[in-house]
Amino acid sequence: MIKFENVTKTYNKSVRALDDVSFNVKGGEIVGFIGPNGSGKTTTMKLLTGIIKPDLGRITVNGFNIKEDPIKVKASIGYIADSPDMFLRLKGTEFLELIADIYKVPTNVRQERVQELAEKFELTEALSSPMMSYSHGMRQKIMVIAALIHKPPVWILDEPMVGLDPKSSFELKQLMRDHTKEGNAVFFSTHVLEVAEKLCDRVIIIKKGTILYNGTLEELEKQNKNASLENIFLELTEK
Ligand SMILES: Nc1ncnc2c1ncn2[C@@H]1O[C@H](COP(=O)(O)OP(=O)(O)OP(=O)(O)O)[C@@H](O)[C@H]1O
Ligand SMILES: [Mg+2]
Repeated sequence: MIKFENVTKTYNKSVRALDDVSFNVKGGEIVGFIGPNGSGKTTTMKLLTGIIKPDLGRITVNGFNIKEDPIKVKASIGYIADSPDMFLRLKGTEFLELIADIYKVPTNVRQERVQELAEKFELTEALSSPMMSYSHGMRQKIMVIAALIHKPPVWILDEPMVGLDPKSSFELKQLMRDHTKEGNAVFFSTHVLEVAEKLCDRVIIIKKGTILYNGTLEELEKQNKNASLENIFLELTEK
């Protein structure tokens, strides 16, 4: 459902953020994206959503090429950005209405969906307050709800668990599992290796814009004589 082929991205003509990166995410898979700060995770995710454009390479999401069908790609994606500090002047309800309008979610469907997700994340009461007054975790929660309001098949989540309390984090992980069980794809970045370990069918490890590993954690551990993921990660990325 995600196809990233030989993608190179340079910022300001000098900072090479991604260097000939290729990978796939299939339907039914949760793929974790891990790598040190500044390794190119957010850049990869922004390229997948069409927020920024590659210098070279081909990107396909849900069968649509991002250059030829950018709107269809965007409609296929639920994206959680790396910072939830957006649209802060709006109330929670106003923000969700705006997003539902953009994605053309029918009125009755959006109400049901917002209610269900807000209850799951214990945000129902806060919806009538301006997002400016939200804590970091509450802002993150509303971004989660907004990303899922149109039931997108492909989820691209940039550090989605940051700031969430244990219950909300648990609920989100459960949603990710349920989503892939239905044949959809989840691609998410995290710095929490335990989360990757518990949740992922596969991990992609990136450093300085180059993929170091793409495969299952079992295989990675086998290759490294059953060392802990933490040790393998440190060894791989420090070399
Ligand atoms: N808008 C930008 N302009 C210039 N350079 C940028 C820009 N965004 C990112 N970079 C550079 O591209 C590289 C990759 O950054 P990116 O944000 O993709 O990393 P990341 O893996 O998401 O890091 P983190 O774990 O800290 O979120 C870094 O060297 C960063 O400085
Ligand atoms: Mg990032």
